[in-house]
Amino acid sequence: MRIFHLSAECYPIAKVGGLADVVGALPKYQNEAGLNAAVVMPFYNRKFVHENEFEVVFQGATLLGTRRLYFEILKEKTDKLGFELFLVKIPGLLDRENIYSYPDEKEQFIAFQICFLDWINWSGQTPDLIHCHDHHSGLVPFMMYHSNLYRRLAHIPTVFTIHNGQYHGAFGWDNLDYLPDIDFYKTGLLEWNGGINPLASAVKCCWKFTTVSPSYLQELSTNSNGLEYLFYVERFKGSGIVNGIDTEVWNSQTDPMLPEHFTAATIAKGKQKNKQILCDKFNLSADKPLIAFIGRLVTEKGSDLLPAAIERSLTKHGDKVNFLILGAGDTATELALQQLKTLYPQNCNVFIGYDEALAHLIYAGADFLLMPSRVEPCGLNQLYAIRYATVPIVRSTGGLKDTVIDFGEEGGYGIRFNNVSVEDITASVARAVELYADSKKMLQLRKRMMGLDFSWYRSAKEYIELYQSLIPKI
Ligand code: ADP
Ligand code: GLC
Repeated sequence: MRIFHLSAECYPIAKVGGLADVVGALPKYQNEAGLNAAVVMPFYNRKFVHENEFEVVFQGATLLGTRRLYFEILKEKTDKLGFELFLVKIPGLLDRENIYSYPDEKEQFIAFQICFLDWINWSGQTPDLIHCHDHHSGLVPFMMYHSNLYRRLAHIPTVFTIHNGQYHGAFGWDNLDYLPDIDFYKTGLLEWNGGINPLASAVKCCWKFTTVSPSYLQELSTNSNGLEYLFYVERFKGSGIVNGIDTEVWNSQTDPMLPEHFTAATIAKGKQKNKQILCDKFNLSADKPLIAFIGRLVTEKGSDLLPAAIERSLTKHGDKVNFLILGAGDTATELALQQLKTLYPQNCNVFIGYDEALAHLIYAGADFLLMPSRVEPCGLNQLYAIRYATVPIVRSTGGLKDTVIDFGEEGGYGIRFNNVSVEDITASVARAVELYADSKKMLQLRKRMMGLDFSWYRSAKEYIELYQSLIPKI
């Protein structure tokens, strides 16, 4: 079964968040299960692209409105990622360093989608299914089924996965002529709330859509930035498949980014060693419980509440707990966190920026990982934490609800709270401090977490079953 995954991000080529991790792992596990899955993404002027060899497999010219575009499809030569990787390169449009936030982002992603379709159309390829991820490839189903140009592709099923329903990529009707040779009677399938909405269009036009956890599928009907009614109406077309993690990358026995490797048998010693190295680096004491946060500093993640919650916890518990934050985003939050670091230099440290190796060390060295998310479609951080025996402290929402069981319940291993509030976060920190004091219980939970399986094997299978339901002959 030949599958193309279309995405703006893919680890290790270009990553901003979990979308990259998913697209960099799922196809590999699908291929292990006997599929022929490839990834197609925009070309980025980045390290991975410079350090690896690519060959040009297609050259074409197309139109974006009245603008003529020349493009190339590059293929990574070795397939060392466990899947074929194709990059769409368009000089002047898709050849830059950053993934998002250029003023012509809309043109970049529309052109990406058109060039992909042109390539498979004119090179005569007929994949069995096309799997689009998030709004950056959300116009592909509409174009495949309602553009005269791509009639040859109109019978191919499409699956659309929503990693983040808050972002729609919407733009005005004045850009309609970017979409080539479309059926104007069908433009209602592009529409939401007075404009062209790629996320809404994908949900309307794809054969099936998925969300990255079952709970998130439910939540989209009440919280999706204006698309609630659409998700309610289309709810039977959707299914929730919880993300997995790449257990080859996230392996405490082999992870090259960890100074000390460990197994379930050497958990206590191994984690303490990593913690010591981490604490030395950030001037914190390794004898106190270490609560970490890793992630984008945005409202969705509840990071705006961190400064007040940390301050209140430190006031309450005095010197008994330490905090470490790794992230970047909202300037006010960054400043407030930096201020905390100045006020409590022995109990709180902050690294503003993006650092993959540091993230690995924190997952392994921290005792707790805090995720006070307002919205969390799946969340991978808690899965990485669990894999490295770090107790997740999460708000009960989306994928966090589906993957973390409170340690107060049968078989539990995490700490859960209900409200995105300073009070709930502080109360959970208090539970963490109390739990940490019980070293026997901590060890029991750590062992339990290391015995859990959140690998892609199960979820990759669920996607394959979904594909098979759309292509019964295979
Ligand atoms: P989201 O995609 O919404 O940001 P996820 O939990 O799905 O959230 O995935 C976040 C991914 O990005 C994880 O791999 C996490 O370790 C990584 N990450 C987030 N912020 C940083 C950072 N500042 N430095 C290093 N890794 C980060
Ligand atoms: C999004 C979501 C996150 C999810 C990730 C991968 O970025 O915010 O919760 O884990 O996509 O699916």
